[in-house]
Amino acid sequence: MSQGRGYADLDEIAQRVERLTTLEGKALEAEEIALLGRKSGLITAKLKSLVKLPLEERRTYGAKLNELKVKADSILVHKRTATLGVDALLLRGADLTMPGRRRWIGAEHPVTKVVDEIVDIFRGIGFAVALGPEVETEWYNFLALNFPADHPAMDMHDTLYLDAPPAEGEPAGRLLLRTHTSPVQIRTLMEWPPPVRVVIPGMVYRNDAFDPSHSPAFSQIEGLAVDEGISFVDLKATLIHFAHRFFDPATKTRFRPSFFPFTEPSAEMDVECQLCHGSGCPACKGTGWMEILGCGMVHPAVLENCGVDSERYTGWAFGMGPHRIAMLRYGIPDIRLLLEGDMRFLEAVAGHAGEGE
Ligand code: PHE
Repeated sequence: MSQGRGYADLDEIAQRVERLTTLEGKALEAEEIALLGRKSGLITAKLKSLVKLPLEERRTYGAKLNELKVKADSILVHKRTATLGVDALLLRGADLTMPGRRRWIGAEHPVTKVVDEIVDIFRGIGFAVALGPEVETEWYNFLALNFPADHPAMDMHDTLYLDAPPAEGEPAGRLLLRTHTSPVQIRTLMEWPPPVRVVIPGMVYRNDAFDPSHSPAFSQIEGLAVDEGISFVDLKATLIHFAHRFFDPATKTRFRPSFFPFTEPSAEMDVECQLCHGSGCPACKGTGWMEILGCGMVHPAVLENCGVDSERYTGWAFGMGPHRIAMLRYGIPDIRLLLEGDMRFLEAVAGHAGEGE
């Protein structure tokens, strides 16, 4: 067996492999390429030329060579892993006290939560969900709802009008951003003859200042129930059920007479102030009550405008503001906080639900 060059090479290679443990950085990379590089690495070349050796020599020499290659690989893997370790980081001068990067997990906006909860309570007692467009005509938003043509709410002062004519087939009149969700009462009744029970969530728009208690855009949830023999008692019972489910089973409620062109009689419902529980505080202006919605029996003229026989059918409707209700529930003093998307505020209200890891 020709000892010769083969085995002498192996000693040199073994030494160089051993020396890998002492090398770092660029020197380590260079030696890795010199030994194991795919084109001209020393070990690679030797392995490739094994075929030229006589069988016997190929076996013994090849086995030793392979052992060295495996050893070199394992030294390299070990060194690479070690460079990821804490010691290595410290050696590089990393500041291990620096806070980690935050990963954000989405959380529901408080108003979205309130809307979902309210809608769920009504779904639980047989209401369906209906939606309508935010761009409306004067007819749906005002006239079909029994507003007289010169009603002050139709003034540019309160309503945001669009500078465009209504689409073909729509009733004549100016286009506007709906000022309430009540036009969807009209759309619903025209499409689905009674009996009908729906809740209608959506955004509404008014030409209002953006201040702690007003916003030009806010949400409403409309409710509508029309059937034979529906009375004010049904309205009261349903809304009290809602208040007890949404706030607290012991929450006190009261109804005060009010006025809306599309309901007769009309009322506003108050719930016991959620912050002071009736004893009087700045949030409820010392009254112990907070108004949460307007409601009433659907005006017969509204039913007739939708082609519903007002002799046979009666109904009730309500409209509430989830932005306002979220303010009451979470004790938020300024509506703008609910519309500006400031993460510091949302994170605090969501109880840090938005922060991962
Ligand atoms: N649309 C009324 C408002 O925006 C609320 C309302 C709805 C009142 C339904 C009565 C019935 O103020």
